[in-house]
Amino acid sequence: MRCVFLLIMLCGLAIAEDGLKAWLRYAPPPMSRSLNEYPIPSRIVVLNSTMSSPVFTASQEVVQGIQSMFGISLDVDDAESIQSRIDTSKWHGNLQENPFEQFPLRLPKADTTQIWPAIIGTIDVFEERYPGKLPDLTGLQPDGFYINISSSAILILGRNERGALYGSFKYLSDLAQGTAFPTTHMSNPDVPIRWVNQWDNLHGRGRQGSIERGYAGASIFFENGLVRDNLDRARQYARLLASIGINAVVVNNVNADSGILSDRNIEGLARIADAFRPYGIQLGISCYFASPEKYGLPTADPLDEDVIAWWNNITNVIYERIPDMAGYLVKANSEGQPGPLTYNRTLADGANMFARALRPHGGTVMFRAFIYDASKLNLKANWRDDRAVQAAQFFDGLDGMVDDNVVIQIKNGPIDFQVREPVSSLFSHIRRARTALEIQVTQEYLGQQCHIVYLGSMYKEIMDFDFAVDNTSAPLSKILNGQQFDRKAGGYAAVVNAGLDETWLGSHLAMSNLYAYGHLAWNPSRDPEELVRDWTRLTFGHDEKIVETIFDMSMTSWPAFENYTANLGLLSMVDAATHFGPDPGYRVHSAIATRAYKGSIGIDRTVDNGSGYAGQYPKRIADMYENVDATPDELLLFFHHVPYTRRLHSGSTVIQRIYDAHYAGSQTVHDYIGKWKSIKQMVDVEQYENVLSRLKFQAGHALVWRDAINNYFHDLTRIPDEKGRVGNHPWRIEAEDMDLDGYVIHEVRPAVSASGGRGIVTSSTTKMGIAAATIGFPAGEYALAINYFDVATGCSAWQVFLNDQPTAQWAGDGEFKLGHSPSRSINGASATRITFSNITVAPGDVLRIEGTPDGQEMAPLDYISFLPLGIVD
Ligand SMILES: *[C@@H]1O[C@H](CO)[C@@H](O)[C@H](O)[C@H]1NC(C)=O
Ligand SMILES: *[C@@H]1O[C@H](CO)[C@@H](O)[C@H](O)[C@H]1NC(C)=O
Ligand SMILES: *[C@@H]1O[C@H](CO)[C@@H](O)[C@H](O)[C@H]1NC(C)=O
Ligand SMILES: *[C@@H]1O[C@H](CO)[C@@H](O)[C@H](O)[C@H]1NC(C)=O
Ligand SMILES: *[C@@H]1O[C@H](CO)[C@@H](O)[C@H](O)[C@H]1NC(C)=O
Ligand SMILES: *[C@@H]1O[C@H](CO)[C@@H](O)[C@H](O)[C@H]1NC(C)=O
Ligand SMILES: *[C@@H]1O[C@H](CO)[C@@H](O)[C@H](O)[C@H]1NC(C)=O
Ligand SMILES: *[C@@H]1O[C@H](CO)[C@@H](O)[C@H](O)[C@H]1NC(C)=O
Repeated sequence: MRCVFLLIMLCGLAIAEDGLKAWLRYAPPPMSRSLNEYPIPSRIVVLNSTMSSPVFTASQEVVQGIQSMFGISLDVDDAESIQSRIDTSKWHGNLQENPFEQFPLRLPKADTTQIWPAIIGTIDVFEERYPGKLPDLTGLQPDGFYINISSSAILILGRNERGALYGSFKYLSDLAQGTAFPTTHMSNPDVPIRWVNQWDNLHGRGRQGSIERGYAGASIFFENGLVRDNLDRARQYARLLASIGINAVVVNNVNADSGILSDRNIEGLARIADAFRPYGIQLGISCYFASPEKYGLPTADPLDEDVIAWWNNITNVIYERIPDMAGYLVKANSEGQPGPLTYNRTLADGANMFARALRPHGGTVMFRAFIYDASKLNLKANWRDDRAVQAAQFFDGLDGMVDDNVVIQIKNGPIDFQVREPVSSLFSHIRRARTALEIQVTQEYLGQQCHIVYLGSMYKEIMDFDFAVDNTSAPLSKILNGQQFDRKAGGYAAVVNAGLDETWLGSHLAMSNLYAYGHLAWNPSRDPEELVRDWTRLTFGHDEKIVETIFDMSMTSWPAFENYTANLGLLSMVDAATHFGPDPGYRVHSAIATRAYKGSIGIDRTVDNGSGYAGQYPKRIADMYENVDATPDELLLFFHHVPYTRRLHSGSTVIQRIYDAHYAGSQTVHDYIGKWKSIKQMVDVEQYENVLSRLKFQAGHALVWRDAINNYFHDLTRIPDEKGRVGNHPWRIEAEDMDLDGYVIHEVRPAVSASGGRGIVTSSTTKMGIAAATIGFPAGEYALAINYFDVATGCSAWQVFLNDQPTAQWAGDGEFKLGHSPSRSINGASATRITFSNITVAPGDVLRIEGTPDGQEMAPLDYISFLPLGIVD
């Protein structure tokens, strides 16, 4: 009976797709499995909790999930009221007597009063109520959970309340994926610190708070300098994060505003904490080091009595309202921020001041190690100057000086979230203080969510990186969880920067990075390939074709992005302002240097003849990086300065590898368009269109990158591409070569971001310009690709005519559609392409483009291409 009923219900359920729900959409599970194989309880029994307790939330989540997936409404009872209907006779504390049962289980008969409950609660409360019924669970740690599905009950128990919620999300995720159901499952987090950092500003976008390096709209927390009244999105965010095991969120920018500590904002922060609490998420705050000065003290010297008293008082005031606050995040003496060094004190003095204010309340201070001093660098004059070596120098002598509620938060690499960096040597230097890894989910340097780049594999590679400390196996994850140096565990912090956009991160496909982060922080041995498959099933559906298509795109996306931006350990050669478009020349001697000269390239970081950064690693790793032959190709130019003609392990020369990679990477992402189209019928229409438009953008922007970088090296080295591609574009017509009327030639800066270094703009901000050309290509069908610049300061309109017939049109409105920091200039960040397929032309046909300027965007054009089938250029 029950099965038939269920089947009918399942077929009738509509799937409402919504980016907001992300992987928690609880769509009906796969039908390949018969319904009695799903362990769906007959009632929920929730063990003693208040409304704001994560245990209560867990019960609500299970009710909601099962309703949504199976159309079954479950009642929730407390243990007291349902006692007589629970058969505990088969429950034993001894595992030996209870061999694991298999599905389908033999369940209580429908006509008995006996129920098959899902019991949700903490271990302690369960044991109090049902003494002696659980196996030995002493190994279960804070936040850990235990699930046991047997024919007499489904137990979802946490070591603490949060653990019960995590267990419930795990149970629901298994149901939603229809994958195997282990009858028992015990899971402990690897580390206690699994945090998210949001770089939200109190002020910014009009009334709304902006997000530094955020690409998904305005802040979900702040507007007009204050905490928002409506915190629905904050609550939904907490739910999403709890489902992947995150336990704290620092809600404001590390470049902190002292206004966060005003009375009104402390009140607002308390409301955020209240919204987070049912999901077991604790609130954290970024502090501006010199805050005391902003509130009237003459100094912020961390050893000054009044300063210490000021921080103690404000901390007490906050904890009065938010007794479970997680702690503070501090960015000090970095990128213009004041810090202890400003007052001639040590970093430890600064960190300990916060630590001691937080200690009575059990709070933690996350002290950021992103410290460098660009003013001490002159790479042009000094061969050995290098920003990478500075952090270890700054932290020299600090280890062992900080209190144990200080955690040093270290970026994954020594530079700044580049597409590939070695794992920061600092992790092996700091032996006594606790450390945490800081990574980015927000794609600041990695395409700003307008390029798909799955980072699960990068996170995993970082966590697995073996420092070979003392010649033992010492993966980073083992350093972070405290095992390696025998100290208290630290953990992980990811800069996520979710915003008000309904997709959270600005792009549906970017969410796999958040999903992977949470799961890897919980358990670094998880497989990033498995994670992207799980995420796809939960987000898009179970069809193998969907799963394999998105899997394939995801797994090639990081190597592809690396290929078409900066390969071989060259750091991302992005422009200084937006971190989005190519500007390779500017980087030669900057703090993120390339030392790209005419005959040779790369930073010498050897001890022998360079900055010595290689020597900051433990011996086995230092030996590897010191030796040019032992250094992996992908980091060659990070550690060594070599001739372009040097042969790599792969066999090709450095320069040819640069050319090849840029062609291969841009081709890889061009192919994503066809792959995505192949699953059109299987995904939600809105999601489909949204992703498609972004993939098209990416394919076009990858070509901008490819040409900018390849032309730059071609011009610099004068070494031709063996395959004859670089600088050779037979299907292009440069805009500056067309007949112009009302358009003038514009010298693009940097020149490599435009084909031929030049483009055109209308000669007035109000009048239309016309560019025309007579076509000489053979008669046939082409795709017409038009490269133009979409700047942030207007929405120009373009119209294409073929022999006076209107053929195509578009608008420069990417600033509203894409969400990345838009560029105000004509450069590699605003360069983009639009393609119209099925354009039939014959020699002698006349193509005319009419561009209508808008505001400061003067209908800029770079070039057009007539691309025969199968050619991408
Ligand atoms: C059950 O909840 C009540 C009220 O919230 C509380 O007083 C009591 O301590 C709780 N019992 C357990 C075992 O947690
Ligand atoms: C599963 O739970 C039952 C109680 O329902 C218990 O007797 C049994 O030992 C548990 N099995 C495992 C493997 O934890
Ligand atoms: C403590 O901080 C609160 C909030 O800023 C402030 O109102 C109060 O005057 C401070 N108390 C002392 C003793 O400084
Ligand atoms: C820090 O020390 C330097 C050099 O001794 C001195 O010039 C400066 O005034 C000092 N700054 C402070 C804030 O004490
Ligand atoms: C380090 O360990 C490797 C094997 O793990 C061994 O071959 C090598 O001799 C060791 N080196 C030192 C310096 O102990
Ligand atoms: C050593 O450094 C100098 C610059 O000081 C550089 O010109 C030279 O090429 C380097 N030698 C090697 C072998 O890398
Ligand atoms: C990256 O470039 C290399 C070199 O051309 C190529 O072998 C590899 O397949 C490319 N990978 C991707 C994902 O584009
Ligand atoms: C457009 O061109 C593609 C590729 O040549 C072709 O497969 C498709 O059928 C064409 N569509 C139309 C409407 O002509």
